[in-house]
Amino acid sequence: MYKFDVNKTAGKAEMYLDLSAALAALTADEPDAIANMANAAALIWEYLPDLNWAGFYRAIDDELVLGPFQGKAACIRIAFGKGVCGAAASTREAQCIEDVHAFPGHITCDAASASELVVPIVQEGRLIGVLDLDSPVKGRFDQDDVRGCTELMAVLGPRIA
Ligand code: SME
Repeated sequence: MYKFDVNKTAGKAEMYLDLSAALAALTADEPDAIANMANAAALIWEYLPDLNWAGFYRAIDDELVLGPFQGKAACIRIAFGKGVCGAAASTREAQCIEDVHAFPGHITCDAASASELVVPIVQEGRLIGVLDLDSPVKGRFDQDDVRGCTELMAVLGPRIA
């Protein structure tokens, strides 16, 4: 059993630092990308509040393919440029969406989703995939979450490349 030292009651920045350290320890000795993505999704799901979906899409050829996740069954393939995930993949920039219903082309996988954060994972210039977080709370994600999740993906990137 793993025991993580993540302070959920600290400020967001400190919580993400703890989470990054936990993710680094959890993936340190494991070369399998799917195993590391699965544990990363579980860790994020356990510690980030107000999520209804947390997981990965992997970049394979010219589309995103569903990877390890927590939450409801989701759409399997997303073309680059489609939806929030596809926008993150094609721009390679994080997409922090306050209200998914106002995002043109948003792909609904769970009707409960109200806001979304998607962070691209780029390793040595190659897009490996994206981290996708959905929340039932409108405006759930802010720039602290963008920074924190970008840091988490900087830790994970080399371990899923
Ligand atoms: N909402 C995403 C699709 C993936 S699900 O949220 C898990 C999008 O618009 O790309």
